Amino acid sequence: MKEQIQKPEGKLGILIPGLGAVATTLIAGVEAIKKGLSQPIGSLTQMGNIRLGKRTENRSPLIKDFIPLTELEDIVFGGWDIYEDNVYEAASKAKVLERSLLNAIKPELKALVPMKAVFDRSFVRNLNGKNIKQAPTKHGLALALMDDIENFKEANNCSRLVMVWCGSTEKYIEPSEVHETIESFEQGLHDNDPRIAPSMIYAYAAIKLGIPFANGAPNLTCDIPALIELSKETNTPIAGKDFKTGQTLMKTIVAPGLHARALGIRGWFSTNILGNRDGLVLDDPDNFRTKEVSKLSVLEEILHPESNPDLYGELYHKVRINYYPPHGDNKESWDNIDIFGWLGYSMQIKINFLCRDSILAAPIVLDLALFMDLAKRASMSGIQEWLSFYFKSPQTVPGLRPEHDIFKQLIKLQNTLRHLMGEDLITHLGLDYYQEFVEAL
Ligand SMILES: NC(=O)c1ccc[n+]([C@@H]2O[C@H](COP(=O)([O-])OP(=O)(O)OC[C@H]3O[C@@H](n4cnc5c(N)ncnc54)[C@H](O)[C@@H]3O)[C@@H](O)[C@H]2O)c1
Repeated sequence: MKEQIQKPEGKLGILIPGLGAVATTLIAGVEAIKKGLSQPIGSLTQMGNIRLGKRTENRSPLIKDFIPLTELEDIVFGGWDIYEDNVYEAASKAKVLERSLLNAIKPELKALVPMKAVFDRSFVRNLNGKNIKQAPTKHGLALALMDDIENFKEANNCSRLVMVWCGSTEKYIEPSEVHETIESFEQGLHDNDPRIAPSMIYAYAAIKLGIPFANGAPNLTCDIPALIELSKETNTPIAGKDFKTGQTLMKTIVAPGLHARALGIRGWFSTNILGNRDGLVLDDPDNFRTKEVSKLSVLEEILHPESNPDLYGELYHKVRINYYPPHGDNKESWDNIDIFGWLGYSMQIKINFLCRDSILAAPIVLDLALFMDLAKRASMSGIQEWLSFYFKSPQTVPGLRPEHDIFKQLIKLQNTLRHLMGEDLITHLGLDYYQEFVEAL
C-alpha cells in the first residue's frame, strides 16, 4: 500500500466555496504560520502524534513525519463567494482574527479575490450578494465552475486540487428522485430542477473532474446516491457533513464517557448564541432545520436507546441556536445534562463553553484538505468514513449507521493511516505484554 501512495509533488490548490469566517480564518492562519508568526494548534496533520508498534517501542512520531502529506508551503488557496470582498476585507469583517495579524499578511490576503458564485436565494434567504454567475441552466453553471477550476489550476501551476464547502448552510431538503442516479441528476441540471442546491452543483463539478470534495455544512450536498455513484466512477474521495466544532464536539466527548460507565441520561438541553453571518443564516427556520437534524442525530447514535431503554429510553434531547450579534464569532453554549446513577439517583452536569467557532473550524478544514488529497493519492475513492472524526453528521455508506463517538473515530482515523503505511494496527489489547512477562519468569 505504502509504495502505491503517490508523492505529494507540486502545488496543492485548496478551493473553497464560501470565503466567510471559517475560510478566511483558515487562509489567514496558514499564511501566518508559513511566515512563522503563529502555530497550527488544533490540527492533527500539523501537531498530532501517532503511536506506532508496541507501547514498549516508544515510537510516536508526528503524523506529518509519518505519512506523506502536502507541506503548508505548497498550498495555494482559491474560492468563490457571493460577496466581492477579497480575503483581507472578508477576514476583517468576520472579526475573528486581530487586525495586527491580518496586516502582517495583508498582501497575500488582498490578492485572493473570490470568483463569482453559484447561488440561489431560495436556499439561503438571509443573504443577498452580487458576485453571482449567470447561466440559462444549472448545467451551464456547473460547466462555468469547471472552467473556473481548470483556469485556477493552470494559473497557479497546481498538480492537484481539493474542494471543501465552507459556504452557508442551505435550507433543509430531503433526497428525492432527481438525486437518485447520475442520469436523473444530470437531467435535473439541464431542467433547472429546484431540488438541486447550489452546493450540489459545486460538488458535481468537483467530483466530475475527479477532485476530492468535503462538505463542512449540514446540507445534503454530496450525500446523495447520484454523487456517491459519480465519485466511484471518477475515483474521487468524498466526505461530509458539518464540521464538528463547539457544542457538538463537547457532546461527542462527554456522551461516550457517560455511556461507557453505564450512567443513565434523562435529558440533554443544548442552547447557544452566536452573532456571525452563520448565525444570521441559521436564524431562518428552514436553514436552522438543516443544522438541527445534523446536531440531533449525535446522541442517539452514541447511546443507542433502543438497545438500552432503561438508561436512555426516556432521553429528551433539545437543541436551540439563537442569533445574537454582540457575540460575533465567539459562540457561547450551555448544556444542561440530567443524568442518573446507582439506584436511579439523579445528578446534573452543566457545561458552559465560551468558544470561538472559526478558531475550532479552521484546523478541521486544513486537515480535511490534506487528508482528502492523501486519499486521492492513495487511490481511495467514494465516502471516506475514516474522516468521520471531523464531522457532526458523518457520511456513511447508505444503510450503515455513522460512528459519532470521537474516540472510536480517532482510532479509525489512526488505524487507517497505519494501514496505509504498512504499520501494525493497534487494538489496545496489550495482553501480549503480560504473556511475555509471565514467560520471562
Ligand atoms: N464555524 C464553525 O464552527 C462551523 C461548524 C460547523 C459547520 N460550519 C458551517 O460552515 C459554513 C461556514 O461557516 P462560516 O462561519 O464561515 O459562515 P459565514 O457566513 O461567515 O461564511 C459563509 C460564506 O459562504 C458564502 N456563500 C453562501 N452561499 C454561497 C454559495 N452558493 N457559493 C459561494 N459562497 C456562498 C457567504 O456569502 C459567506 O461569505 C456554514 O455552513 C456553517 O454552518 C461552521
